[in-house]
Amino acid sequence: MSGTTLYGNFHNYYKFNAVEERLRCITEGSQCLRCIAQEHMGASEPFTMLDLGCNEGDVSLAMIAIMRELLRSQRQAPLDPSNSIVAEPVIRASGIDLDGELISRAVNKNTRPEELSFEVVDLTNELAFRTYVQSFLGSC
Ligand SMILES: C[S@@+](CC[C@H](N)C(=O)[O-])C[C@H]1O[C@@H](n2cnc3c(N)ncnc32)[C@H](O)[C@@H]1O
Repeated sequence: MSGTTLYGNFHNYYKFNAVEERLRCITEGSQCLRCIAQEHMGASEPFTMLDLGCNEGDVSLAMIAIMRELLRSQRQAPLDPSNSIVAEPVIRASGIDLDGELISRAVNKNTRPEELSFEVVDLTNELAFRTYVQSFLGSC
């Protein structure tokens, strides 16, 4: 796969397309993301995210940080004021890309391995994609 960008698998993509720019359309106003965070309020399971075509994972990492803040902002103060500890939001995220070199870079840059994993998967391969989704959701 190296040396070709047939599938949009650009290397060093975020050197030319700043993450902030990539995210601007979904973070501006961020009403949509706020609603998603609101809907998750009170849920006992982790907040889960899939990044399909994650390239080197920069956007996946940035999205985790954005959603953590939004989830935090949605949490109510504890009913008992003496119990001031509010649990941190639990996030499970995963990024896939068909380019092994990009995934290898994503793994090396991953500063949140406890929340985020990366895998080489071609999402047009129905069986591989289904197996990956089932395994990811099963581990959450
Ligand atoms: C233009 S980049 C966008 C990266 C990132 N989603 C973003 O918005 O910044 C598209 C990515 O999708 C990946 N991709 C294309 N076809 C794919 C497929 N069938 N399965 C998995 N990843 C794919 C490419 O390798 C590339 O990294």
